Amino acid sequence: MTGFPTLRMRRLRRTPALRRLVQEARLHRSQLVWPLFFKLDGKATPVSSMPGVLQHPLKDAGEIARKAADLGVGGVLLFGLPASKDDKGSGAYDDKGVIQEAVRGLKRAAQDLVVITDLCLCEYTSHGHCGIVRGDTVDNDATLELLAKTAVSQAAAGADVIAPSDMMDGRVAAIRKALDQKGFAETPILSYAAKYASSFYGPFRVAAESAPQFGDRRGYQMDPANGDEAMREIALDLEEGADFVMVKPALPCLDIIRRAKERFGGPIAAYQVSGEYSMIKLAAQAGALDGERAMLESLLAIRRAGADIIMTYAAPDAKLDA
Ligand code: PBG
Repeated sequence: MTGFPTLRMRRLRRTPALRRLVQEARLHRSQLVWPLFFKLDGKATPVSSMPGVLQHPLKDAGEIARKAADLGVGGVLLFGLPASKDDKGSGAYDDKGVIQEAVRGLKRAAQDLVVITDLCLCEYTSHGHCGIVRGDTVDNDATLELLAKTAVSQAAAGADVIAPSDMMDGRVAAIRKALDQKGFAETPILSYAAKYASSFYGPFRVAAESAPQFGDRRGYQMDPANGDEAMREIALDLEEGADFVMVKPALPCLDIIRRAKERFGGPIAAYQVSGEYSMIKLAAQAGALDGERAMLESLLAIRRAGADIIMTYAAPDAKLDA
């Protein structure tokens, strides 16, 4: 057995060039997806809970699309703030809705940019839940129809990928069927398959103005204590026709990302959610840590765990060689 002092692990850590040579996980901006918030009009407004993140007016879509394309991000992921909300989330499946218009504006300016639409009703419902509410629960089956309608409307506007994040049972099958029937058989589905009821979504709900007005999402999103259940969720979504799947949040779920990658292969996406992002940004603002390096370390950990694609608010400006 060779050991110390013949073997010295530090030899390959000696210089930056050697460290670069033996680096295992690498990040390229083409693996990062940039989440964007669109509103109908007004000026770009900073989101108080997320340093550096803006709510963009539709008229800026062209400029943002060109910026995203120039930076070489893997794609953009869209969230919308509608003009008004109601109990059925009508704004989500309005062909002239904020997301539909944002897709058109982005694609007009950058045809090749991958535009992914988050598909959920919570930004569009007056009660802030991800579906139709009956009593104090979200009615799964009644919600499916609206999700399918929304998917078709997003695809018709030109979305390249439909990403359902609602966690209703059977939504992938319902969306696939509707897309196929309406002539969008070529539009892929990226399902948020293993999505936990996480407090790390807090800052997002300020940005998207989508906090539930009563209760929480634990009746449909997953319990953070469970891992086997995530494997079942992913298996089901793939069986129903999901083209690829996502784990969310990312850093609290590195084990889930790893298990998913080993069991199902790629591509696996992971979402570095608003709370993960803001923790780093706010800690850096407070002088507690080096924000650029902490962001890179976090993204590398997610990649090392097995994620092929990372949704991150740092997509446009993360220093990938910090
Ligand atoms: C919509 C949705 C949410 C996020 C992505 N899609 C919020 C939620 O489920 O409450 C969270 C993203 C983030 O925190 O960055 N359902």
